Amino acid sequence: MENIILTGDRPTGRLHIGHYVGSLKQRVLLQNEGNYKDFFILIADTQALTDNAGNPQKVRDNIVEVMLDYLAVGLDPKKVTFCLQSEIRALSELTMYYMNLVTLPRVLRNPTVKSEVKMRGFDDNEEGVPVGFATYPISQAADITAFKSNLIPVGDDQEPMIEQTREIVRSFNRIYNTDCLVECKSFLPENNVCMRLPGTDNAKMSKSLDNCIYLSDEDDVIKKKVNSIASFPRALEEPGILENNIAFIYLDAFVTDEHFKKYYPEFNNLDELKSSYQKGGIGDGTIKKFLCNVMIDTITPIREKRKELSKNVEEILRVLEDGTRKANTVADQTLKEVKEAMGINYDDTFKKEQIEKYN
Ligand code: TRP
Repeated sequence: MENIILTGDRPTGRLHIGHYVGSLKQRVLLQNEGNYKDFFILIADTQALTDNAGNPQKVRDNIVEVMLDYLAVGLDPKKVTFCLQSEIRALSELTMYYMNLVTLPRVLRNPTVKSEVKMRGFDDNEEGVPVGFATYPISQAADITAFKSNLIPVGDDQEPMIEQTREIVRSFNRIYNTDCLVECKSFLPENNVCMRLPGTDNAKMSKSLDNCIYLSDEDDVIKKKVNSIASFPRALEEPGILENNIAFIYLDAFVTDEHFKKYYPEFNNLDELKSSYQKGGIGDGTIKKFLCNVMIDTITPIREKRKELSKNVEEILRVLEDGTRKANTVADQTLKEVKEAMGINYDDTFKKEQIEKYN
């Protein structure tokens, strides 16, 4: 079977290095391999509203920001279809039908939703969890199935959504005796540290926690953020500890042997540096300085390309509009098949059947 790839992001802020190693790099890889029939990237503004109902301006303001990040990391509109979720009406309709196939306890069991509820404090304020937020995995299942996507490049926090989607697909196909929905699987980064890159403070990297390094950060900002990474206090000659060491986690995700040649020629690669660090004698200031160079080296070309692209937003909006048009054609077709399978297609056959029944 030929792959149909789909993934997406909520436009609630610029994208950061966690997005980059967790998903964007994988997307560029898949794009360049070219081994797919279609590749959709969804700007999930509807999903973003599930916890930003009071702040639609934030969502509105970040659509172009996210597009700039996409294009700056090398995603190519000739190879990828970018589309805007709220403009694809079939997605909302599919969500309504899928909601009947999922129980409330099942929705509330989703570990990612659970931890997001906690992080947003929904469970300790009087208002509680918005229904739309608790059920967003169902709408995500609509995103995925509308395009008959079978391969979803995401970080592992999205695995429960993929699992939920598979369950909906199986229920739907069984109940309505059809094969119109397609089962999907995730495509995760190979490097384990990339799966869930922590923030500079070791919590989950998240805009709301203010612990991200953005793909658009200037050098001095990167420097400041890298220097703010906590390290375990120790005397220089004492052994360095790698466990939970954010600076080393970042090096694991970003450093190449080229970086060593350029900025730290005493070592050939990360393994050598690690073993020396563990023996003692290398200070955390030195590590951070190296990390700073690595991060600046990684981010600078992206940031500069981003600036260049931002001079032609009209073109970017056109790309999004064209992509959304194409996405609508595909999603409408799936919706049609779904309604047919469910028998809620009130076409001529329906009319004839009803007229005959009452004759
Ligand atoms: N939930 C994803 C996130 O928070 C965004 C998203 C929406 C998505 N729809 C999707 C991801 C479909 C993969 C497939 O980043």
